[in-house]
Amino acid sequence: MERTCRNTELSIKDVGRKVTLIGWVAKRRNLGSIIFIDLRDRSGIIQVMIKDADKATDIRNEYVIQVKGEVNKKEVPNPKMKTGDIEVVAEEINVINTAMNTPLIIADETDALEDTRLKYRYLDLRRPCMQKYFDIRDQIKISTHSYLHKLQFIEVETPMLCASSPEGAKEYLVPSRLHHGSFYALPQSPQMFKQLLMVAGFERYYQIARCFRDEDLRADRQPDFTQIDIETSFLDQEEFLTMMEGLIHEIFMNTIGYDVKLPLRQMPYREAMERFGSDKPDTRFGIELHDLKTIFKDTTFEAYKAAEAIKGISVPGVAAETSRKVIDNLTLEAKKFGLGGLAVLKKENGELTGSFVKFLSDAEKVALIKELAVNDGDIVIISAGPYNRVTPLLGALRLQYGKQLGLIKPNTYDLLWVVDFPMFERDVESGAIVATHHPFTRPKDEDIKYLDSDPTKVISYAYDIVINGYEAGGGTLRIYDQNIQKKIFNILGLSDEEVEKKFGYFVNALKYGTPPHAGMAFGLDRLAMILGGTDNIRDVIAFPKNLAGVDPMSMAPTEVSQKQLDDLGIVIPEKE
Ligand code: AMO
Repeated sequence: MERTCRNTELSIKDVGRKVTLIGWVAKRRNLGSIIFIDLRDRSGIIQVMIKDADKATDIRNEYVIQVKGEVNKKEVPNPKMKTGDIEVVAEEINVINTAMNTPLIIADETDALEDTRLKYRYLDLRRPCMQKYFDIRDQIKISTHSYLHKLQFIEVETPMLCASSPEGAKEYLVPSRLHHGSFYALPQSPQMFKQLLMVAGFERYYQIARCFRDEDLRADRQPDFTQIDIETSFLDQEEFLTMMEGLIHEIFMNTIGYDVKLPLRQMPYREAMERFGSDKPDTRFGIELHDLKTIFKDTTFEAYKAAEAIKGISVPGVAAETSRKVIDNLTLEAKKFGLGGLAVLKKENGELTGSFVKFLSDAEKVALIKELAVNDGDIVIISAGPYNRVTPLLGALRLQYGKQLGLIKPNTYDLLWVVDFPMFERDVESGAIVATHHPFTRPKDEDIKYLDSDPTKVISYAYDIVINGYEAGGGTLRIYDQNIQKKIFNILGLSDEEVEKKFGYFVNALKYGTPPHAGMAFGLDRLAMILGGTDNIRDVIAFPKNLAGVDPMSMAPTEVSQKQLDDLGIVIPEKE
């Protein structure tokens, strides 16, 4: 089709040039005999002036038109627009296609509900602010390809139809038509395949990999998402992290021009939990957790006497607004974390107040004020109970207050590694031992001795990259000794037979000259979110699912025909 250039390639230098543009009608203003049109294409908007209004009477918003005309200098420039000092005076307008009234306004500002946006996603994506997210996403991928290729990485695809292998989250299963009763699983990540590529001698692998996890959805989670998946041989942890920092630096520079200061700092997992109540701490603001066990060593308060952990935070300046209702909500929050409640104290006129004060001795009051540096107008929140409930509760409250009080400066980036994760943790609900990262993580050499006696003491070679309180990626050094790999599976409750059945091929491969290897995966969507400045992962995914796991456009997941079910040998029980 005839087109001389994209809209925003034109500038004041082009005044007098004859051009042919194509785009969508973003806005139309009728000034009697003259009509102004904002013409939008992929590059942006330019104003078109139509002196003969008759030529444009039937043109509506979102029509696709071709404009032939001359670039003119505008009398009153619009500094907000890239092409604000020029306009195209139309000589000919051709309507290429018409459009119905759109169910949402095609502009950066929209009041459409998210489900409407997702139902008409192709229109939602037409909004310039949405296209910017995809430019960022694309640039992350381009930077990744170029950085990793320079370092001799090779991109290899791994299967989508895999054997089921529990990695943590629930898998999506795909029934086999040829083998009734058997299922493929969609990969939660290419973890075992990439390790096998190291056994195969590839040395440096990467893949922009699609992953699938049947988890409860959140603002930063999707059931199908994308990883920048990486594996390397013969690098120790520091060498590997340095290489990954180089990648992150390149990505930040090429997408938003931000110069990440390297090396990134490393914070042990234990410290992150102790100080921030989270393994993905947002360290852009204070309100840190304090250990209050010592202060309460002689407490007379029954519930505190036996508590495994007693911790507190002080929140500045919110005493006046901390009403009964606010305290009730905080208590509800504690209940969500499986705790009976929490204590809220205020400091007013030099004194601590609140219903919990009656349980405090004078010495405890003085010590609390000192430890938490409490000033008049501040509140103190204290939680006691199991460590792995108390710390995340206070971590979550800290985050809520940080946001509520505007303590986080916009456009600031805080990047760090969280390292030294425990190899195992106990599932809060069932008490069962589960792998903190995954079962292929290498225990620290000096902790191998605890594998038999007290596995929860074992620290692993694992690292997460945390950006602005998001887990943007994570990885580990891998086990390359088949005996240790088997032992880890055993600790996780798998018998030798089960290991053989589920992971036999993998453990077997480790016998054939496996190189020491290490890797990680960045969440591509999460990086795009952080760099795009949105806190909604769906904004950076072209056709995402809503929080109910549904795509309101195609209505996936949908029922299928009886014939399809019969072919697969699947019987769906009647609903009761
Ligand atoms: P992990 O499970 O930590 O590690 O995943 C790596 C990164 O992927 C992103 N991520 C998600 N993003 C969106 N939606 C989800 N549901 C989702 N789940 C995870 C996060 C996370 O940090 N195989 C290992 C990596 C390795 O050890 O090499 C793995 O998948 O940003």
